[in-house]
Amino acid sequence: PEIGCLSIIVLGASGDLAKKKTFPALFHLYCQGFLPPIEVHIFGYARTKISDDELRNRIRGYLVSERSASPSKDVSKFLQLIKYVSGSYDAAEGFQMLDKEISKHETSKNSLEGSSRRLFYLALPPSVYPSVCRMIRRYCMKKSNLGGWTRIVVEKPFGRDLGSAEELSSQIGELFDEPQIYRIDHYLGKELVQNLLVLRFANRFFLPLWNRDNIDNVQIVFREDFGTEGRGGYFDEYGIIRDIIQNHLLQVLCLVAMEKPVSLKPERIRDEKVKVLQSVLPIKDEEVVLGQYEGYRDDPTVPDHSNTPTFATVILRIHNERWEGVPFILKAGKALNSRKAEIRVQFKDVPGDIFKCKKQGRNEFVIRLQPSEAMYMKLMVKQPGLEMSTVQSELDLSYRQRYQGVTIPEAYERLILDTYDPCPFLSLKYYCLQCLPLQLDKR
Ligand code: BG6
Repeated sequence: PEIGCLSIIVLGASGDLAKKKTFPALFHLYCQGFLPPIEVHIFGYARTKISDDELRNRIRGYLVSERSASPSKDVSKFLQLIKYVSGSYDAAEGFQMLDKEISKHETSKNSLEGSSRRLFYLALPPSVYPSVCRMIRRYCMKKSNLGGWTRIVVEKPFGRDLGSAEELSSQIGELFDEPQIYRIDHYLGKELVQNLLVLRFANRFFLPLWNRDNIDNVQIVFREDFGTEGRGGYFDEYGIIRDIIQNHLLQVLCLVAMEKPVSLKPERIRDEKVKVLQSVLPIKDEEVVLGQYEGYRDDPTVPDHSNTPTFATVILRIHNERWEGVPFILKAGKALNSRKAEIRVQFKDVPGDIFKCKKQGRNEFVIRLQPSEAMYMKLMVKQPGLEMSTVQSELDLSYRQRYQGVTIPEAYERLILDTYDPCPFLSLKYYCLQCLPLQLDKR
């Protein structure tokens, strides 16, 4: 058997993200046999003073979904892997205790010193990242000469603006080497976001079309049909631009607009994404719309006079040979009438149209990230029948139909898996992309 032992430590274990996303993702990895074939222990750490069982009870309800085949048996077995340690985020005591607890479980005969792998998942607000990282570095890091490692996973929002993001980066960078740091953006784990690279660079179809000569505009849209739902305290500090556009939608934009990377190495993909961002022109005031949904301030966790945007449309213009003149329209909003995330690539009209079909709509290629993953192409066809008329139709690849019986993993499953078992074909390891200054601060 492989030597070593994996400890996954979820900091902020009693919080929303941990309950709703991190633990369920670990559970699904467990059920599908995607935890590594070594001893694995999971630890929760937070300030609340509760017992192991109390934490397990808090998580339990979030684990069961249609996806787990034998829910109750699996749930109980999985929950038994979880231990809880309470402590503060800036004092030695809690982290020393945590280290002791982890070490206690790193004792099997295959866990030689130097072989233990420790993954710290910071499901925490960024304000405590520096102190937590310092504590981990000082009290919870082990020798790693036998293949062991310590890695940390941080979430967004990664700072408020360029300055604070750089500061955070340098604070964390002083404590850990870059390969130990995983700044994750869960949109990168979505099936159809992952598919973008394959779609663009493994299909001859798109090569000649994917440029300003053929494409009129690109829309990247995120809508949610619910509001802050108790997360007002967090959301109001950041707003929709920092919560969704600056991270999730920009990542998608980069994958849609970038040139072909020289290889699939994460650094090479990062290089191409960065070039896209560097080519984005300053955003014009008249190309931004901000809004706030009615009732937002009724949320008790939102200040009465808040003017934080919950909706934004921003037009980005990429100043390069491929995209000059093609607007990239990014839209995001909470509490709208539907829940959807999609990319719409709208093509220019056919020159010299002999069918007079302009009014029926243009060619469009749509990639629906959620719900119901799909890609479809809107195109003109002859209306079947004796008459010679045209109609818009669709070439439709709906995943549910085409891939029946295939379970599409949750974004977080893929991201977490990548932190301890990187895919040799395409690692998701995501490098900081905070280089688009948030010029919208002033508004
Ligand atoms: C998070 C945002 O990053 O993404 C939330 O903080 C938002 O406000 C969520 O609801 C949306 O994620 P998904 O995967 O449900 O589209």
